[in-house]
This record gives sequence, C-alpha cells and structure tokens, in this order.
Amino acid sequence: MTTRATKQLSGPRTATRTYQVAVIPGDGIGPEVVREGQKVLEAAAAQAGFHLAWRRYDVGGERYLRTQEVLPESVLEELRTVNAIYLGAIGHPEVKSGILEQGILLKLRFALDQYINLRPVKLYPGVWTPLKDKGPEHIDFVVVRENTEGLYAGVGGFLRKGTAEEVAVQSSINTRHGVERCVRFAFDYTRRRGKQKKLTLCGKTNVLTYAHDLWQRVFNEVAAEYTDVQTEYTHVDACCMWMVKNPEWFDVIVTDNMFGDIITDLGAIIQGGMGIAAGGNLNPRGVSMFEPIGGSAPKYTGKNVINPLAAICAGGMMLEHLGEVRAARGIERAVMRVTGTKLKSLAAGEMGYSTSQVGDLVVQALDT
Ligand code: IPM
Ligand code: MN
Repeated sequence: MTTRATKQLSGPRTATRTYQVAVIPGDGIGPEVVREGQKVLEAAAAQAGFHLAWRRYDVGGERYLRTQEVLPESVLEELRTVNAIYLGAIGHPEVKSGILEQGILLKLRFALDQYINLRPVKLYPGVWTPLKDKGPEHIDFVVVRENTEGLYAGVGGFLRKGTAEEVAVQSSINTRHGVERCVRFAFDYTRRRGKQKKLTLCGKTNVLTYAHDLWQRVFNEVAAEYTDVQTEYTHVDACCMWMVKNPEWFDVIVTDNMFGDIITDLGAIIQGGMGIAAGGNLNPRGVSMFEPIGGSAPKYTGKNVINPLAAICAGGMMLEHLGEVRAARGIERAVMRVTGTKLKSLAAGEMGYSTSQVGDLVVQALDT
C-alpha cells in the first residue's frame, strides 16, 4: 500500500505521520488554486499532527512550449512512488487541444491505473443552484465513473482519411475485469458511505446492447453479494432528467467513462459550478490523484479572482484517501462555513473575496 504514511521520528518520543505528495500545479489558474489548497492542507495537517512532504512537478503547457516535453518518463516513474498526487489544471490556449489532456491527465489516469473517478455532487449551505426549489437536503450524491476504459481507451482509427469515403471508428472497450472492479468499488463505497445505501447503474442497455449488457450482468451478479444495498438502473438520458428534477433520489451512481464525464458536468453545475466541484482519480492499491474538475480557465489566470474551493475540496478528498479522515471532515466543515456565511457567489470575480482571501477564510474556519 503506497497510501500508508511513512513513520519518521520527529523527536525523542513522538512519531509523526508523513505523506509524500506530488503537486502538479499545471496550467492557467492551476497554480493559484493549488496554492490555496496547500495552505488549507498545511493548516489541517498541523492541527491533526501529521506532515505533508510536497514534491512539486513542473509539467503542463508552459513546459511543453519550452521543451516539447509533455510528461517525461522520469517524472512518471517518480509519481509512482508518492502517497498521492495533487493536481491543479491542465490545458493551455497556445497548445492544440488534446495534447496536454491526453499526454498528462489521461496518461496519468491510465499509467497509474486510476480506475475510479470519484465525483461527489453535494450542494453546500448558501450555494446557489440553478435547480428551482432544491436545497442542500436534496443534492448529495456521488458519481463513481469508470476511468480507464470505454471510449477513452483510444482504440480506433481512420480509413481513407481525408477522402469523401472516409471512415472514423472509435471503439468502446469494456472488459469483464474493468467493469467488475468498478462495480465492486461502487457497492463497497455505497455501503461505507451509509446514507440511502442505494446504488444506481447508469447506462444505455437499450442501444449499447453489448457493452452495457456486460455492465448490467456484472452489476446484477455483484448486487447479490450486497443484499443491504438497494439497486436501481437508469438509462443515461433519463438519468440527466432525474438529476435535474429529483436529484434527491440519488445516493451513488456508477457508470462508464464517457457517460460519467458527461453527467458529472451536469452534477457540477447543480452543486454550484466548477468553483466547487472536486474529484479523485483512485487506484485503491496504488497512487491516486486529486483535482478540481474544472479546467485551466485562461481568462482568469493570474488575477486572484478564481474560486479555490474545488481545489481545497479535492485536497480534503486526498486526506480522506490517505486515512486522515478527521482532518478531511474538518476541511469540509470549514468549506461549508465559508459558503454558508461568507461568500456572495461561487463564481470567479463574484465571491466578494479574492482567491487568496477565500483560502484564508477556510483556514480560519478550521476547528481549533
Ligand atoms: C474531466 C475532463 C477530461 C475528461 C478531459 C480534460 C480529457 O473533462 O476530467 O472530466 O474527459 O475526462
Ligand atoms: Mn469532463
């Protein structure tokens, strides 16, 4: 287990838990939000009595433009040895779309076999949602997105490219192993979360009659081992409708990579937008990576106006994953205090505070 802290003697009698955390601030507003996240994580760690040993990696658009390197092999090898990775944002306006996303973000997810993308959708107090008549009591669910297969596997090709008879094929890869480990994680997670104890499979079995037939069969088989977890199925199109009309019906949703990508942007907006939406790319037996799910937002870069709460919440998820559950809960409570009593809006430039002031507010709101 790489997530376990290495114990280091910090004095004659006390042993401090130390976690090696790789930081990839990345592009655009990434460095600004990561700075606030680190500020909050440092404060939480000091309170809880553990230590975060940061290792900063300079990868992203600027490095690519300077050196043509996307993700050097030596960096990847070092990332394999840390307890967790904390990522800001990837995407640069002067780099062709796809190069950095595929070469860094997707590459890390695949190379480190981070087969779960865990994305909580929770409306915090005081946060505006576009859903009429819905409040924090209605919006609190988690999407478990398969993160290494499906349409993201990169299987496909062209035939007769550039001609009038061109064919483009992009295949969705669904393996028994990949689907089963994702579905099992989702059942375990639903049980552990202990809320409604309801797991919804989101698919499209009426059209994807091979891929989602496999998902459905695996889901039903694994469900038999979790009789305490209630199960449901919804087609992805209907899922979008219910997420808007009755989000309170959901507790945990498990779905494939592409559908998970799409429904979690819908999830992000109903929880208040990209300023608050966080996620974890998990390899339960390896190195996991935590990130705000929004992009690099070039137009806000360097202005100290972007909302750092998504990065702060991603940091909280990282602590929970590392086993520092009390500190993680403390960060979430502090964020809820700040949204509930301080911020005017979660939107960039409209918070009533700067990026660094929001970080300070969360630090102040941590329980003492
Ligand atoms: C996300 C993003 C990525 C994805 C992109 C940037 C490749 O949209 O993390 O949801 O599609 O997974
Ligand atoms: Mn996405």
